[in-house]
Amino acid sequence: MKLVHSIADLRAELAQHQRTAFVPTMGNLHDGHLALVRQAKPLGDVTVASIFVNRLQFGPNEDFDTYPRTLQADCEKLHSAGCDVVFAPAEKDLYPEPQTFSVQPPAELANILEGHFRPGFFTGVCTVVLKLFNCVQPHAAVFGRKDYQQQMIIRRMVQQLALPIEIHTGDTLRADDGLALSSRNGYLSAIERAEAVHLSRVLQSMVQALRQGPRGVSAIHELEDQAMQALRQRGWQPDYLTVRRQHDLQAPQDGDALVVLGAARLGSTRLIDNLEV
Ligand code: PAJ
Repeated sequence: MKLVHSIADLRAELAQHQRTAFVPTMGNLHDGHLALVRQAKPLGDVTVASIFVNRLQFGPNEDFDTYPRTLQADCEKLHSAGCDVVFAPAEKDLYPEPQTFSVQPPAELANILEGHFRPGFFTGVCTVVLKLFNCVQPHAAVFGRKDYQQQMIIRRMVQQLALPIEIHTGDTLRADDGLALSSRNGYLSAIERAEAVHLSRVLQSMVQALRQGPRGVSAIHELEDQAMQALRQRGWQPDYLTVRRQHDLQAPQDGDALVVLGAARLGSTRLIDNLEV
């Protein structure tokens, strides 16, 4: 496995290959990231993972400075998952000058849910992902369903800008108790870690209710309110627990395929999760 930092070294490394499969990450890797790498492997003749903590997608009061940077351990894990090239640019490699051009995703996709609570987040994500795509020039890229809105927006970006890249989605990997694996789980104390599973449990109970009961507007609102209340009573501060249609994350209408999504803070750690119905 090769570790490269500069765009020029990355391009030189990939020049001999026909078809590149790509998994972008911010590092501090867990088995969910590695599952995406394994999924990417058969999609190309070389597999690239990037590790870059992207300042553009963090708000002023978010965890950019404290986000865990664990390059050596990440490289060992990527090697064992069969990754061929790790692209780990320093900030000066990817942003040698302030990144003043950016990709502005449409408000109806990007200013709801995560984008409502993290203004500018998806502009930062789309800008870095487009730039990483231009560096790596992949034929295929894999994104996790864990970040449901992110993979949906990336798919639309690729479609609207006619990028010649197949976007694949990987299932969410979970701990034995059901908690979705996340780099931010490392922020949780032991007590919080035991409690954290309740985000996925509440989403699971919403899925059960939707499978068995009414799906009208008022039933859905009641379900959302009950779910928010249930987490608040357990000491969480939920941002949203909501039922949306899978296609574009708007409020569902009769017959739409549904997804339930949630974001909530436990202590100072903000966790997100989702389940398709
Ligand atoms: P990061 O949070 O490191 O996630 C990298 C990829 O791993 C994303 O596609 C994410 O959806 C996926 N992932 C995270 N947890 C997962 C889990 N439990 N199971 C399966 N896949 C999981 O998402 C980002 O980085 C950044 O926004 C990025 C796309 C790299 C742009 O900076």
